This record gives sequence, structure tokens and C-alpha cells, in this order.
Amino acid sequence: TTIEWDAEAAEKAGFEHFMLKEIYEQPTVLQHTLGGRFAGNGTDVQLELGLDPLAVDRVVISACGTAFYSGLVGEYLIERLARLPVEVEIASEFRYREPVLDERTLCVVVSQSGETIDTLEALREAKRQGARTLAVLNAKGSSISREADDVLYIHAGPEIGVASTKAYTAMVAAFELLAIFLGRARGVLSGEAAAELIRALRALPGLVEETLGARPEIAAVAEAFKDKRDYLFLGRGANYPTALEGALKLKEISYIHAEAYATGEMKHGPIALIDADMPVVAVATASALYDKTISNLQEVRARDGVVIALASRGDEAIRAHADHVIYVPRTLELVSPIVNVVALQLLAYETAARLGRDVDQPRNLAKSVTVE
Ligand code: AGP
Repeated sequence: TTIEWDAEAAEKAGFEHFMLKEIYEQPTVLQHTLGGRFAGNGTDVQLELGLDPLAVDRVVISACGTAFYSGLVGEYLIERLARLPVEVEIASEFRYREPVLDERTLCVVVSQSGETIDTLEALREAKRQGARTLAVLNAKGSSISREADDVLYIHAGPEIGVASTKAYTAMVAAFELLAIFLGRARGVLSGEAAAELIRALRALPGLVEETLGARPEIAAVAEAFKDKRDYLFLGRGANYPTALEGALKLKEISYIHAEAYATGEMKHGPIALIDADMPVVAVATASALYDKTISNLQEVRARDGVVIALASRGDEAIRAHADHVIYVPRTLELVSPIVNVVALQLLAYETAARLGRDVDQPRNLAKSVTVE
């Protein structure tokens, strides 16, 4: 399933849609994103940045859509691994609200196209205020690449499908590298902890490959629920953004209404929505909050909710708390968003394909929003 790295992105390489090809390119893309960025000592990453990690005392991340969700994962990673306060804000809000920044603020903008006008203007606002700027970016030679102080390229290659897939996982992988880089440089991430994360990142292409192997089970779930009108996606911790991205993927290409909530937020209102007609997709892979997630699933099922759980391979206990289980390979909690989202990309794809949607060019959407 991992296709030869295809420099000619204009080819579908035998896949029915560019989006499916790009979903299957992710093991190869992650090798390009991560490749060459692990130092030989196994405890450090090497990023060619002009940035001085000690000259920064807070981080602001700004982007749109899927790129924004990758920034939300970045928040969990940078706060946990580098102990720097992080704020993440949608670029179309950030650019107009006169944010308070200064020269010790690192402003990270995230973009696949490098041409999203709101994200470009967010970058310009940060520069106006003297903040240090870094772009997590795919498109070389783009406007954002020319204006950011530093660029951390994600090397995802051209992404043709309007719904972003490989760029998202590559963005999150870039944030993994950035968080380790900042944590090590600031002396708050031990070599041992960094080595464990680096080992998990090195294993990612194989874990994503294995997740792609779950496509038949995922397709069966898509078939069973493709006619539902509403979905709820739940996730906790670093997988709350996974739920947000999974909901966006489904909305974008199948046109089914879907929303995502932090799992612990259910009892503060959304649980009133639960009934048998609203499938609940819950990211319930191995994590420190697994037990709390299970109790949330029990609450959903006590109200006739139908639960589709994303679970770690080998977790048999979850079968008692879910109507359908999609198994993905186990990895570190902070690395799991990259593996988990691949299953949700496939769920959205299989659903949209069964509904006969224009998967690569969904209605009303453009690949890059270059005008306001
Ligand atoms: C992603 O599936 C969407 N097509 C959209 O949200 C996209 O992520 C957003 O427009 C940002 O685009 P960019 O990464 O090119 O800046």
C-alpha cells in the first residue's frame, strides 16, 4: 500500500481519488518529514532554525482549519515537553483582535499552501509587533515561506485533495520535532524522555501502515452509518484535536453534520443530543485518561447512544463499552494523534465514497483560501 514516492503528484497512481492516494502516502511522507532530523545521539533532533529557544518565553500558534487543529496538538506537545505557555488561535480571529505580543513571543503559523490569507496576515501582525516568527509549512516558494523568520518544512509533497490528510499528519510530526527541540534546548526534557519519543516517532511510518490495514473494518463502519445525519466525535488530551479533525474530514467530504467535543465535556450539555441516530466516534486509545474515557462511553450508552470506539490493539475490555471497535496500533499518548487520525481519515473517505460525493473537490471548498 505504500506507493513509490511519486514526484509527479498529478498522477493518482492507481487510486480512485487523490485523497485516497494521499492517505496511503502518509508512511512515506512521515519518513520525509522526520528523516534527517534525528541527531546521531538518539536523544536530540536537529532543525536548521535561526530561532534561539532561550529567547522565547511564550508561544502563539495561529492557522486555519486542519492546520489549526495540528496547532492544537502542538499546544499539548510544547507545553508538556518544553514547559512553554502556548496559545492557539484561529488566524481569522487572531489577525483582527490586536493580540498582545512582544519580541520574546514565538509566533508559529501553520499552512499547507502557504497562501491562506488569514494565516499570512496573522504572520504579518506578529512581525509588526516584533515577535519571532516560524512557519510550519508545506509549499516551498509560497508567500508565507518568504515572510517568516524561520520555516520548518513538513515535506509532504504536493497535496491535491482539497481535504487535507498527509499534510495534517506531517504538520503534527513537525510539532513533535519542534517540541522536542525546544524542550531539549531549554533543558527541561531529559535525554531519556526524548529518546523514548524519538523511538516512537521512528516507528510511526510502520504504525500508520498498520492502521491503513484496518481499512476493511473502517469501511464496514462507514457502510453501517453512512445515512446518519449527525455524528459526534469525542477525544481527550492530545486526541481532542484528533476528534476535531475527524469531524472536519467527515463534514468536508461527506456533507454529514459532525461536531467534536472534549470527551469530559459531554455532561455539560452535548449529552442531551445523544440518541440511537447519532453515532458517537470516541478516540479511546491507550492514555492516562483511558478510564475516564470509558466512564464517558458508559454515560453515552446508558442513553441509547451508539459508540464507535477507536481503541488500541489488544484492548479487549473496550468491547463491553462500544458497539463497534476500530483497532489501531499502540504508541505513546503524545504520538498517538498521528496514528489515530489516519483511521478517522479513512472513515470520512469510505463514508463519502459510498455517498458518491466528489471526494477530491467537495462542493463549496477551495484548496487554499487566498481571498477573505
Ligand atoms: C483541510 O481539510 C481544509 N481543506 C482546510 O481547513 C485547510 O486546512 C485550511 O484552509 C488551511 O489551509 P492551509 O493549510 O493551506 O493554510
